[in-house]
Amino acid sequence: MDKIIVEGGRSLKGQVRISGAKNAALPILVSSLLAEGSNTYSNVPHLQDIESIKSLLCNLGARAEAHGDTVHVDTGRILSCEAPYDLVRKMRASILVLGPMLACLQKAVVSLPGGCAIGARPINLHLKGLAQLGADIHLEHGYVRAEAKKLTGADIYFDTVTVTGTENLMMAAVLAEGTTVLRNAAREPEVIALAEVLSKMGADIQGAGTAVITINGVTSLKPVSVRIIPDRIETGTFMIAAALTHGDVTLVDCNPEHVRASIHKLRRAGVKITTAENTIHVHGNDEIFSVDVETQPYPGFPTDMQAQFMVLMCVANGTSMISETIFENRFIHVSELERMGADIKISGHTAIVKGVPALSAAPVMATDLRASASLILAGLVAEGQTQVNRVYHLDRGYETIEKKFSQLGAAIKRIK
Ligand code: EPU
Repeated sequence: MDKIIVEGGRSLKGQVRISGAKNAALPILVSSLLAEGSNTYSNVPHLQDIESIKSLLCNLGARAEAHGDTVHVDTGRILSCEAPYDLVRKMRASILVLGPMLACLQKAVVSLPGGCAIGARPINLHLKGLAQLGADIHLEHGYVRAEAKKLTGADIYFDTVTVTGTENLMMAAVLAEGTTVLRNAAREPEVIALAEVLSKMGADIQGAGTAVITINGVTSLKPVSVRIIPDRIETGTFMIAAALTHGDVTLVDCNPEHVRASIHKLRRAGVKITTAENTIHVHGNDEIFSVDVETQPYPGFPTDMQAQFMVLMCVANGTSMISETIFENRFIHVSELERMGADIKISGHTAIVKGVPALSAAPVMATDLRASASLILAGLVAEGQTQVNRVYHLDRGYETIEKKFSQLGAAIKRIK
């Protein structure tokens, strides 16, 4: 199994290109199911999760082929309405096929994703919403079996803000009869990106990016050609890397509007950041100040940036409180960071992080993508050689992470 070795202590300098967003690409690739014909997506990142969703689409009968960062999905002959356990267990986002399959095939059999390292992650709100659209849903032998001769628009309220729940319901509602209103909807840029793709296909969607999304059903959709938006979590991760190493890094092909919460917190920590339309320049300060953070749905501070920001606070001057409000078990990185000399106490859903003068290298591993990224960041500033194991988590969500850091001057390599 691959490992990443990082030698700490180098200041990052130069330019890094931000890849397309994993969490935008996944629902958008799935939305191809709604538009029979050939769909083309550019700026798709090369990631394990993208491979998983392509396999799932092919398993359903679609053709999905990549040429560089362009992916063609041809949905001319969907033959199956079953998303099997072996594919879904690799990636929870597979649940996104449920809404579109119901809309197009009137039937869907999808393995229940189950929990994951960061929390129980139920899908009750996806199922409740689909039932309100008229689907008949049963859970049987670990599978969701859903059927609907016809989906009919409904007024749906999400008890909790859910990103993939909003996306699933939006994809089911675009072909439903009548009007669907999604209340307390997720406002993430990835939800807006999906709504834009669906609208380009011919759907009638208003309000994406606000808490109330209104969808007037149409009878059919046509294939599209679109570009995937930049990855805001990769953007935030590189901003923190630059800040941590007191570096001087320009991020290109990114969207500063999507990372406003992270920019705000980094500026409070003393980091100098300037933005232009598609670029962000990060100039690390010699001193890092402690800042409190609470994760919230967008436009709040993202849970997917919590682990990375914690590393910055581990070497800040002072004590910070980092509260995780989205997932119940998203402090997996804490015990590994402690092994690297961090001073962190957990109290309920808050981590109290007391800055230390330096971290020290250690062999580490994590069972979650963002936690793994945080360990690479810690390695960049730790004294000595850090060995990050279980790299497959990183490969699910960061495109060639070691190459990008290496181009910025980090001493980092992958060992096969
Ligand atoms: N929730 C429910 N019931 C539901 C759905 C969600 O109780 O039916 C709860 C969850 O347990 C959680 C909260 O609602 O406490 C928010 O979860 P959400 O549904 O928004 O998460 P998700 O859609 O499964 C997406 C991203 C995650 C990201 C979260 C939060 C994708 C493919 N995944 O997950 O990304 O952390 O939103 O922003 O878009 C990652 O990329 O590393 C990652 C985990």
